[in-house]
Amino acid sequence: MIITHYGHSTFAIQIEGINLVVDPFITGNEQTKNKVNLDDIEADYILLTHAHQDHTLDAGTLAKKTGAVIISNYEIANYYEEKGLEVHPLNHGGAATFDFGRLKYVAAVHTSSFADGTYGGQPGGFVIEGAHKNIYIAGDTGLTMDMKLIPMQTKLDLAILPIGDNFTMGVDDAILASDFVECDKVLGCHYDTFGYIEIDHEEAKRKFYEKGKDLMLLGIGESLEL
Ligand code: NI
Ligand code: MN
Repeated sequence: MIITHYGHSTFAIQIEGINLVVDPFITGNEQTKNKVNLDDIEADYILLTHAHQDHTLDAGTLAKKTGAVIISNYEIANYYEEKGLEVHPLNHGGAATFDFGRLKYVAAVHTSSFADGTYGGQPGGFVIEGAHKNIYIAGDTGLTMDMKLIPMQTKLDLAILPIGDNFTMGVDDAILASDFVECDKVLGCHYDTFGYIEIDHEEAKRKFYEKGKDLMLLGIGESLEL
């Protein structure tokens, strides 16, 4: 499994040659300007945690270009299906098996509406059980006890957690989240993109380190392999 960060909460995840893109927000992100070209991104599936613009802005364009299947909650899937795109709807607690592995839509504590005000269902996160590795993508969320359900069924190799505070968990709550999901290897997201969520990278990494955990912060276009 190869995970590439394209800024904010956008990740490309390659599992055995199949390309997943999570929460594509590239053309509206100042930080990815001249660094990431949406046209270069391949996608077989697009996973959307919730409807907010900083997670869905490029989903329609990317799906149209690649023919990727959009996977999200029922309302978000419907929204894109009405635009003529291919979708697979899930809802909370539900899982389905795809050619890349088993995907479960799990709870998140947040809100979810499209930029035009359209209702975007309830926000969520994803647990991916891939061929060899399992990961949790929290999406935008506050710390919630529901996270404790995840390790009862899935032994995680990586947790992708928001750490920017203000709209989601901050670093301290993300450390507790990493306890809840029983995964000490954390990839941070949802920080630095705009003023409200700027963080001190060194301080964040130190706080995780002091709890015996590893916080990774990938640069734009940087990858890690699991
Ligand atoms: Ni959001
Ligand atoms: Mn967000």
